[in-house]
Amino acid sequence: MTIIITGASSGIGKSLAILCGAHNHNVVIVARRTDRLQQIAQEISGKGGNVFVVSADVSKEEDCKRVVSETVKKFGSVDVLVNNAGQGHLGSIEETSTETFNQMMLVNLYSTFWLTREVLPFMREENRGHIIAISSIVGRIAYPFNAAYVAAKHAVVGFIAALRTELTGTNINATVICPAGVTTEWSSATADGNLGEIFSTGIKYSRAIAAEKNLPLAPLSKMKTPAQAAEIVYNVLMGNRSNDVYTHDGIIDIAEQAVKDRIAMEDQHESLYLGMIKAYAEGVGR
Ligand SMILES: NC(=O)c1ccc[n+]([C@@H]2O[C@H](COP(=O)([O-])OP(=O)(O)OC[C@H]3O[C@@H](n4cnc5c(N)ncnc54)[C@H](OP(=O)(O)O)[C@@H]3O)[C@@H](O)[C@H]2O)c1
Repeated sequence: MTIIITGASSGIGKSLAILCGAHNHNVVIVARRTDRLQQIAQEISGKGGNVFVVSADVSKEEDCKRVVSETVKKFGSVDVLVNNAGQGHLGSIEETSTETFNQMMLVNLYSTFWLTREVLPFMREENRGHIIAISSIVGRIAYPFNAAYVAAKHAVVGFIAALRTELTGTNINATVICPAGVTTEWSSATADGNLGEIFSTGIKYSRAIAAEKNLPLAPLSKMKTPAQAAEIVYNVLMGNRSNDVYTHDGIIDIAEQAVKDRIAMEDQHESLYLGMIKAYAEGVGR
């Protein structure tokens, strides 16, 4: 199969690319940092895998078009598209610039739209394929100080659901995957500051706040490694029509609670929100 993976220069995308290479697929690795892509390509081809590097900024429509046209030129078709590239940001809504808000939408949402629109004609011609999008737990619930990212990841969930309705009656699949914490560069590569720092300080503060105010501690799932997350993504892309996928234990329960009783879910997270608000007020991460 020919598999396009965006955001393949690090984290989940890199691990997934290596895994797909090891399974003898044609792997198209996409990101902006070409030097890193070249190193990963060497690792894959060194083990006998078939890999093709496309340097692209997926926040640009013309680059997304080129990713697909170069892939088809090289391999003749596209079987799987994994919309994995993504970036978060750190900032309260009052302090989020229009530029940052737009950037979050472009990288996380528009890239998925543009790449999907480009691959669909080729998949329809063959009447097969699978389009995956990596959303997030924040495609279902929210944490403070990254509203543009949260909004974009919610939109990705809706986009894939809408896509699947348009694919009814075909052999083309579309699946959204919602990871929670994965140990990648993601939390430090956020725009306008380090979201990971405010999250970890917020968790630390939340313990004292919970004890002082008699509040529950927010439910948090154990972090996964990029290789563990990539294995889940790989099984999904090889599989059939699927419900939305939650990579971490307990996350589906939180997402369901948000649908049934969002206020109760938010109450359960109150100590964490307050901890993060305290950390933000202190300038943590900026
Ligand atoms: N890590 C987590 O805890 C977590 C949780 C939930 C969801 N996610 C989602 O999982 C996906 C993978 O993230 P990760 O955790 O593996 O983070 P990561 O290690 O920071 O990887 C992000 C990838 O996206 C690429 N990227 C960012 N902006 C891009 C652009 N404009 N054009 C092309 N590529 C771009 C980066 O490559 P270049 O910088 O080289 O372009 C990099 O390869 C993301 O969609 C993220 O939102 C992650």
